Amino acid sequence: MKLIVTETYEAMSRAAYGVIGSLVSKKKDAVLGLATGSTPLGLYRLMAEDRTVSYRDVKTVNLDEYAGLSAAHSQSYAYFMRENLFRYLDILPQNTHIPNGVAPDPAEECARYDGLLDRLPRDLQLLGIGSNGHIAFNEPGTPFDARTHIVTLAESTVRDNSRLFDRIEDVPKQAFTMGLADIVRAKTVVLLANGRNKAEAVRRLIEEDADPALPASALKQHEDLYVILDREAASLLHETA
Ligand code: PGA
Repeated sequence: MKLIVTETYEAMSRAAYGVIGSLVSKKKDAVLGLATGSTPLGLYRLMAEDRTVSYRDVKTVNLDEYAGLSAAHSQSYAYFMRENLFRYLDILPQNTHIPNGVAPDPAEECARYDGLLDRLPRDLQLLGIGSNGHIAFNEPGTPFDARTHIVTLAESTVRDNSRLFDRIEDVPKQAFTMGLADIVRAKTVVLLANGRNKAEAVRRLIEEDADPALPASALKQHEDLYVILDREAASLLHETA
């Protein structure tokens, strides 16, 4: 594990862009696993601003999507990705993949996504982490060998995500998520965390043994894992505090 502790959110984003930007510069047809949430927004801004890098041949595969929200819904992750990243890049829309939140047959949608993940091995997977240690929507207790599945969101996740909705009742209770088995299959994994709210999950990830109670700990055995933190997210680590 390469642990990088930066001073600020901006510095964390720049460190992440150092890894992703150099990958895409070297490998024009890279396959990127992307994430939503507040954490990667600074990184996405840097990707959008750098006109020297082309995404013409890049493919992307996103981690998750709310069940019941179509790609046109303003709170869907498909919408988030278009608004915050894809519209600024020369990426082809057909090369961007995300689970279909309104698929008529959810089980079939999960199987379709697994097939896609098999066909598109990711060079890199970007991740945030939930305050309860989830990655994507793999909540505590998710088996490490899970593939794409529908989850019922933990109460803490609904609460954390409610800041983006008008009312907490509007937060969908279920989501499609890439499973932990597929997340760890990416060649390189970059996990970002900023803010005090993430410090305890980060401490458990770094200092404790792998345990499904902390889904992010599935990453511990990964051979090319970057954990990039701001000072607050690193504040409970004993060796760097
Ligand atoms: P956040 O979410 O980036 O909005 O904090 C991260 C996550 O829940 O995985």
